[in-house]
Amino acid sequence: MAHNGFKVAVVGATGAVGNLMVKVLEEKAFPVSKLKLLASARSVGKTLPFHGREIPVEELVQNSFEGIQLALFSAGGAISRKFAPVAVQAGAVVIDNSSAFRMDPQVPLVVPEVNPHAALSHSGIIANPNCSTIQMVVALKPIYDAAGIRRIVVTTFQAVSGTGKRAVEELRSQVSAIMSGREAVRQIYPHQIAFNCFPHIGLFLDNGFCEEEMKMINETRKIFEDAQIRVCATTVRIPVICGHSESINIETDRKISPEETRELLKGAPGVRVIDDPSSAGYPVPLTAAGTDDTFVGRIRTDPSVENGLAMWVVADNIRKGAATNAVQIAEILLKSGRL
Ligand SMILES: NC(=O)c1ccc[n+]([C@@H]2O[C@H](COP(=O)([O-])OP(=O)(O)OC[C@H]3O[C@@H](n4cnc5c(N)ncnc54)[C@H](OP(=O)(O)O)[C@@H]3O)[C@@H](O)[C@H]2O)c1
Repeated sequence: MAHNGFKVAVVGATGAVGNLMVKVLEEKAFPVSKLKLLASARSVGKTLPFHGREIPVEELVQNSFEGIQLALFSAGGAISRKFAPVAVQAGAVVIDNSSAFRMDPQVPLVVPEVNPHAALSHSGIIANPNCSTIQMVVALKPIYDAAGIRRIVVTTFQAVSGTGKRAVEELRSQVSAIMSGREAVRQIYPHQIAFNCFPHIGLFLDNGFCEEEMKMINETRKIFEDAQIRVCATTVRIPVICGHSESINIETDRKISPEETRELLKGAPGVRVIDDPSSAGYPVPLTAAGTDDTFVGRIRTDPSVENGLAMWVVADNIRKGAATNAVQIAEILLKSGRL
């Protein structure tokens, strides 16, 4: 039955993720009767296009959520902690992109291809996982179901858009400064990012891991509902604008061949296999940029452990890693009448 539409708010609408949430709502023809775009006072006066109309950006304030039924948050953890409960109180379901609620046992952490059922047990807030975790679990879920996964070792190669729009500007301006013989100015990252890379995303913790690595470890266990799965992550920032890549090694319970893995993944939701190395056939960030799929290639036996597999996984970090995943969660709620 057609629905007249929901009153939807996007919090952080002017940011890298928020902007794309608005686009994905339009692309997926999500039923929206009223769209409220919220950001900081700095953005008042700006507009964003939606279905051919220019929608003004409003300042996020305490009563922004009156009448709102669905609120998509992507303005950072502090804003989510302060305003997500306000939105829920006003009657909205919140889908939150920040890390504020991801590990809260009361809050489902959902990747629609992996654990859609979890979305239905929400009590107001649903969390969108970290971008690097999302693409990894989408690629691994069919293997997890078919052969069991005991251990994952992952190294990421993450685009600067994962840090937001100011980081994209930092890479662009450092490249242009260096190419014209000027000094690169560093504001956001701990090192120059142009022509460089560093294994450091988020703060370092006492155990020697950085926050992004611990997010991948903890979120994977929560999404797979498997506290036993062993995960080790190294997260690296690279000078790419869009698209995260991951080198993943897994140890399965049952031996599974590269051929069987390719066949499994070819039929998996949201996954595309590009695996013909002899003709340089493997996914790269530019393959994934602008798409909603998770791409897998370089599938091969890892001979260093029993039942080992190695692979390369790439996705658009702003789309599947954030905006698309959030709108897909909203679609689950819509289909199940939980909105
Ligand atoms: N980028 C990714 O790949 C990615 C992936 C998954 C999750 N996330 C998460 O999504 C969130 C946003 O990331 P982003 O990359 O989109 O960041 P961004 O490009 O820096 O955008 C931040 C957004 O938050 C708004 N904002 C900042 N302070 C505010 C305030 N005091 N009141 C209201 N709005 C405020 C900004 O509005 P103004 O324009 O007015 O400043 C802007 O719309 C973060 O929690 C991030 O961890 C990002």
